[in-house]
Amino acid sequence: MSGNADIYHEIIVDYSRNPTNYETTEQRAHEDSFFKTTDVIFHDSNPLCGDSIDIGLKIDDNKVTDIKFSGKGCAICMACSSVLTEITKGKTLDEVRKIEKNDILGELGLEHLQAVRIKCALLSLKVLKSALYTYLADHLDNSQDVDSLKEDAANLY
Ligand code: FES
Repeated sequence: MSGNADIYHEIIVDYSRNPTNYETTEQRAHEDSFFKTTDVIFHDSNPLCGDSIDIGLKIDDNKVTDIKFSGKGCAICMACSSVLTEITKGKTLDEVRKIEKNDILGELGLEHLQAVRIKCALLSLKVLKSALYTYLADHLDNSQDVDSLKEDAANLY
């Protein structure tokens, strides 16, 4: 591995061991769980491996004030989910809509990831876009305004 590849590999392993903005199954079952106070939760899984991710958002004044994920995934999935939550927290809903796959892949040096691993890397982004779509469709008079978001999620990989 080249120097940069080594560094990115270490970062991914570190995130997978210590994911950020993450609740374990035990924490999630607790009455103080973040997921009991969210404005929207969405869940999806990777059909190839069965790994699955939930993302919960707290939204106030059109801004994501807090975000966490839970579930299980491989090291790439856990690292990308962590990075995604870090990128998303504090953004307006419009800014969140504009998050693209390269915003996450670029943070972890994964721009040239093999097709077979891309689902691992982008599962959380798919879940986030679907969560945002669900929230906006519930809160807008005309949900056609956000149908492109649903398509974005469906066409990520
Ligand atoms: Fe399951 Fe990567 S192998 S998400």
